[in-house]
Amino acid sequence: MRTRVRWLMTVNVAGMSGGPSSSQTPWWRNAVIYQVYPRSWADADGDGIGDLPGITARLDHLAALGVDAVWLSPFYTSPQHDAGYDVADFRDVDPIFGTLEDADALVARAHDLGLRIVVDIVPNHTSNAHVWFQAALASPPGSPERARYLFREGRGEHGDQPPNNWQSMFGGPAWTRIAESDGTPGQWYLHLFDTSQPDLDWTNPEVHDELDDVLRFWLDRGVDGFRIDVAHGLVKAEGLPDGPAEFDSANEPTALQPMFDQPGVHDVYRRWRRLVEEYGVPGEDRDRILCAEAWVLPLESLAKYVRPDELHQSFNFAFLMTPWLPDDLRASIDEGLAAVAEVGAPQTWVLSNHDVVRHATRLGYPQQPGHLRIEGIGADDPQPDTALGLRRARAATALMLALPGSAYLYQGEELGLPEATQLPDEARQDPTWERSGHTSRGRDGCRVPIPWEADLPSYGFGPSGASWLPQPEAYRELAADRQDGVDGSTLELYRALLRLRRERGLGRGTLTWTDGYGPDVLALEIASDVGPTLVLTNLGPEPVPVPDHLEVAVVSGPLTADGAVPTDTTAWLLSGT
Ligand code: GLC
Repeated sequence: MRTRVRWLMTVNVAGMSGGPSSSQTPWWRNAVIYQVYPRSWADADGDGIGDLPGITARLDHLAALGVDAVWLSPFYTSPQHDAGYDVADFRDVDPIFGTLEDADALVARAHDLGLRIVVDIVPNHTSNAHVWFQAALASPPGSPERARYLFREGRGEHGDQPPNNWQSMFGGPAWTRIAESDGTPGQWYLHLFDTSQPDLDWTNPEVHDELDDVLRFWLDRGVDGFRIDVAHGLVKAEGLPDGPAEFDSANEPTALQPMFDQPGVHDVYRRWRRLVEEYGVPGEDRDRILCAEAWVLPLESLAKYVRPDELHQSFNFAFLMTPWLPDDLRASIDEGLAAVAEVGAPQTWVLSNHDVVRHATRLGYPQQPGHLRIEGIGADDPQPDTALGLRRARAATALMLALPGSAYLYQGEELGLPEATQLPDEARQDPTWERSGHTSRGRDGCRVPIPWEADLPSYGFGPSGASWLPQPEAYRELAADRQDGVDGSTLELYRALLRLRRERGLGRGTLTWTDGYGPDVLALEIASDVGPTLVLTNLGPEPVPVPDHLEVAVVSGPLTADGAVPTDTTAWLLSGT
């Protein structure tokens, strides 16, 4: 039985304002949402792994930064084979992160500070430690317990070949064979990710009911929305057909992937939209939101996820993957805006997250289409130009935060953190490293714990000096306390951008490209109810003079001595007074 604890209604929502038009514009349409990766943000108990009390204690940092909401990666009960994306109990907190009471305290504190909380939901798979999977292993083929997952007989005379040619996103086959209870080799189960992450069968109504109930569990505890993990993967092509020969599941165009973006997935999200709308509070801007992590192209297919009766947001990963080149960026922005305009949704911009190389490092490599450093980097790989990467990253963020729509930030980017590109391979914990036979370094480099105070052990990450991944020495100078109040620091830049974005209503504005600055300069005017803001991103070799009638309101790096906008710099310009 479910108890509908509507205690949320009593929390302070007075601070939750989206700016002058917030009463007309639902909060999520232009929100800036900050991703916290709980293992790596702040460790209260000193075990070297971040936790919920650690997050609660540092929420002031986010209120001062000026974001609207926080997305928390999974903190649920989990054996942690994929850093918590292998969930054993969707309704409890893993002891390494704290307790349910700690989760309640976090939500309450966030709401007091005017911050909304979005949690991660992982509906494509469970952990193999989940009671459902344990029951499936203990039950015979054809049983209702097995029917919650995708168990199939193997191919070949002895059933010793996987049921199809799909591969795991982490490398190796997407199927693992089990031993039946009498010890004989038995059926195979599908896992698009690690062997410890069996895929659920979304043709089974019991799976729908269970996930509905999980959504309600967290909504009843007061969360403001969900980021949906692998949102495009729930429904597989009927009959689980082979992909093309020589098929590499992880690297095919979406249209060739029988495990992704199947039409039936949209029925799931229509049902979820109806469910979260039961929790909205009319007239109080209290929409609970759903945001898809869907690696789907073309953008027209991705836009289907944000049709009016489906999800609110879907990350625009095409933008994240766009090289730092003027024509590519211009086209990416145009295509991104056009695709969602078709369905009346806002665009959702993002440059970094816990799965890709941080943009301060990505942009420190030579830029060419199709050659982006998204995958993990090791000490023996070519190393980035760190200063160049940071300069471009600041300019890229200043461009992104001016764009109409919503934007997501990833923890530590406001400090200008680079990827840890020299982690010792023995320290790596991402299953990708092992499953790829040590060919793909995986995602540990963007998950290194945050430096808060330069002179404390583990740079203030926790009280003991322990840190589950080693922190690069370069993180000391980038610690939050070294940047706080320092003119020109990345932290102060982000604060200024977020303040001005709100004041100027940029997220709810409309974009018009402006001519006259040459092909290497992105010049865009964002018009909102507050007035126009001109945004210049200079990707060319020559500095761009600021037009006489305009003043620089914020700039991503130093101007030239005569006040022009130099290479790899973004400036926001306003009419002079
Ligand atoms: C998503 C998550 C990633 C995780 C995978 C499997 O892509 O962002 O971190 O490994 O799903 O759950």
